[in-house]
Amino acid sequence: MNIGILVYSHTGHTLNVARKLQEQLSASGHMVTLAQLETVVPLKMGDTTASLKTIPPVDTYDALVFACPVRGGTPAPPMRVYLEQITSLEGKKVACLVTGFFPAKWGRNQTLAQMKTLCESKGATVCGLGSVWWSFPGRKQKISMVVDHLSQLFFGY
Ligand SMILES: Cc1cc2nc3c(=O)[nH]c(=O)nc-3n(C[C@H](O)[C@H](O)[C@H](O)COP(=O)(O)O)c2cc1C
Repeated sequence: MNIGILVYSHTGHTLNVARKLQEQLSASGHMVTLAQLETVVPLKMGDTTASLKTIPPVDTYDALVFACPVRGGTPAPPMRVYLEQITSLEGKKVACLVTGFFPAKWGRNQTLAQMKTLCESKGATVCGLGSVWWSFPGRKQKISMVVDHLSQLFFGY
């Protein structure tokens, strides 16, 4: 399966998880491309929108993983802007992944719900959601559980 992992990461947490997912999916025999969303200027604390340098295309992939941090209970603006600009996700299998510093009910759950709605509004079949609570202890284990969970969605393809 040709899988695209589209990531926005400000401080590297989400990128770290996305890279581990890429490794695991590649090891299972998938062709996996990781593309990072880059902003024209670095995102600042209170920013609610962002300009992206490029809009990475999604049409060549069979499946996609959209990954970003939580910002105030919403997807980080570069990811939201990106998902809003994608024309169609018709026929694509999609998973969403977020990282956040607080318990799930303080932003991660709401962010995943918003990403799912956005992807479905473009015609995607959202088959999985994963989030990592970026806290100690047990971070390594939390990451590996999420990576396993999301990898299994593509098992058998
Ligand atoms: C402005 C701002 C708002 C944030 N809001 C939330 C939030 O609502 N819930 C949460 O769990 N984490 C929140 N965080 C923490 C980040 O989501 C968390 O540190 C994330 O892992 C950073 O990912 P990155 O390194 O990929 O950028 C916020 C961080 C910033 C800077």
